[in-house]
Amino acid sequence: MKVKYIAWISSLILIVGMSCTSGEQPRVGDELPSDGASKKILIVYLSRTNNTKAVAEMIQAQMGGKLVALELANPYPADYRTTVDQVAQENASGFLPPLATKIDSIDQYDLIFLGFPTWGMQLPPPIKSFLAQYNLAGKTIAPFNTNAGYGIGSTFEQVKTLASRSVVLEGFSTRGGIERDGVLFVMEGGREVKVRGEVAAWLGKLRVK
Ligand SMILES: Cc1cc2nc3c(=O)[nH]c(=O)nc-3n(C[C@H](O)[C@H](O)[C@H](O)COP(=O)(O)O)c2cc1C
Repeated sequence: MKVKYIAWISSLILIVGMSCTSGEQPRVGDELPSDGASKKILIVYLSRTNNTKAVAEMIQAQMGGKLVALELANPYPADYRTTVDQVAQENASGFLPPLATKIDSIDQYDLIFLGFPTWGMQLPPPIKSFLAQYNLAGKTIAPFNTNAGYGIGSTFEQVKTLASRSVVLEGFSTRGGIERDGVLFVMEGGREVKVRGEVAAWLGKLRVK
């Protein structure tokens, strides 16, 4: 009787212990190797008026890693309205514009910071091209964005869908230019200082340093 009682108590302790373990929430950043030295970083971005580029450079200043600008085989027109119309057509037809940029051995990177402006409340088509062209399975992606103040739109959700075999971390977004109103590059002076602080806070929260 006593033996049975002890066995019953032991299994109860085991079950309670197991349920506590499985109830623990995974924390952002847990997927990354804890050994910082083994984590290789790529920062890849699209930028037309250099706001997203400025954020990419802030990330590189804090994290290190290789910085790559995505260039197109056929660049978009200089005219804003014509570009908006072309992007709308590409989104509607699912056209993936070919990239001129080639990234050597993407396999070597563990963590990819992926930067883009919001275009038509979506991911710019060249970012869709990048996600279709490279196998990012098993990698960690940290998206970052600038926009004219209308927000990220569906961009972060689209990254999750198009990189479904990657771990997509919480993204960073901040206000950039308003090309429609002739406001192009804004990441200077007080705005640059403020955004640098926001980027540092985001990186701290991700615990990827
Ligand atoms: C074709 C195009 C479409 C855009 N669509 C949006 C939009 O839907 N929402 C928004 O907030 N900003 C939009 N913008 C503004 C950019 O997101 C904003 O200016 C951004 O900071 C530009 O980043 P960049 O300087 O790295 O190119 C658009 C800009 C362009 C060129």
